[in-house]
Amino acid sequence: MTGSSPTQRSAPHPPRLTLVIPTYNERDNIPELLSQLGQVLEAAEAEIIFVDDSTDDTPTVIEAARSDCPVPITVVHRDDASGGLGGAVVEGLKRAQGAWVVVMDADLQHPTATIADLVATGEQTGADLVVATRYAGGGDRSGLSSGYRKAVSGGSTLLAKTLFRRALAGVSDPMSGFFAVRAASIETDRLQPLGYKILLELIVRTRPQRVAEVPYTFAPRHAGESKSSLREGLRYLRHLATLRLGRTRARMLGYGLIGLSGMLPNLVSLWLLTHLLGVHYVPAAIAANQVAIAWNFALTNMLLFRSGPRRHSLRSRLTRFALLNNTDLLVRIPLLGVLVAVLHVNVLLGNALTLAVMFLVRFVVIDRAIFVPAPAETPSTVPETS
Ligand code: GDD
Ligand code: MN
Repeated sequence: MTGSSPTQRSAPHPPRLTLVIPTYNERDNIPELLSQLGQVLEAAEAEIIFVDDSTDDTPTVIEAARSDCPVPITVVHRDDASGGLGGAVVEGLKRAQGAWVVVMDADLQHPTATIADLVATGEQTGADLVVATRYAGGGDRSGLSSGYRKAVSGGSTLLAKTLFRRALAGVSDPMSGFFAVRAASIETDRLQPLGYKILLELIVRTRPQRVAEVPYTFAPRHAGESKSSLREGLRYLRHLATLRLGRTRARMLGYGLIGLSGMLPNLVSLWLLTHLLGVHYVPAAIAANQVAIAWNFALTNMLLFRSGPRRHSLRSRLTRFALLNNTDLLVRIPLLGVLVAVLHVNVLLGNALTLAVMFLVRFVVIDRAIFVPAPAETPSTVPETS
């Protein structure tokens, strides 16, 4: 992290409001954003903190526009971008001086005119959290660019609301990136942000006393393009699983799903080898296992344990992974032999059966011998008392 800019002007007394704005390559939105913020914020009462992970010159553009803005501006540029958008917001929350913190995007999809409503609603209702919502009381999500984005957004909301029924009871838009929090109510140390859904993280882990909502219209992006991606979608699923199950069990679930998905390449390659190329089923099953191992390794490597540097090189990880996963064959090949040669079961069905058996064996071993709960264990997961 290169830290906050030394030239920041700070208000003589703590501001009433801190605006936290995460930025990732938003250079073309900055001038319009700061111009609008200059009009809606009162200079003596507010500060703006940009937390930037850009690879373009967004920080320089902010620095250049700062002198025209009546409100003090801090730019924090992070070199590591840990936690992505959510990590940036938490960094901003930690540095905020205001009694209220409003989090919003830099691309003008969140109307600057709503900022004051959020804080006013918090003051009037005594809420600790005020969520700007697209889904209630006249809110609108017309700025979501496509039917696909709308479906993804609706689906993610439904999934979160199903998994966290109680925590999200009064929240119609838990995916919102636009909200106000009472600074005194936030415990930033409890947050473990992972990607976009920082509001969900905040609600589920810190359970704000009272939540209010303000409807708004999600506008189209002013300039540039959205940074959300398939990868961000997968990160969201991991985030949900981690919030619900805790880190280790979430990884186990991912591991199980990847293992299950490996049956597909396994059976397809076995079919190709035996039916199309006429290979004997034993070498074919061994070869098919290698294809599935490659598949599982690629997914595990990409999705499950991706963050941070690793002790072992890629090649060394692959070798260990392949060795471990081939020990399966010691059981599966004899079993397959019995099924095919003795019981005359079809090769594909037989192979599927051996895979299922090993999957169960592995699960039972992991469940009964490895992840054994201590008596009266304190739950490491987020309680969802109902
Ligand atoms: N610092 C930082 N680091 N900022 C980021 C990162 C990151 O890794 N990724 C995105 N941002 C910034 C963008 O520059 C922008 O200011 C804001 O976060 C939102 O990113 P977009 O890429 O524009 O997201 P979106 O429009 O698809 O979705 C946003 O709005 C939805 C509705 O409120 C997000 O806020 C979603 O979480 C939200 O559901
Ligand atoms: Mn956006």
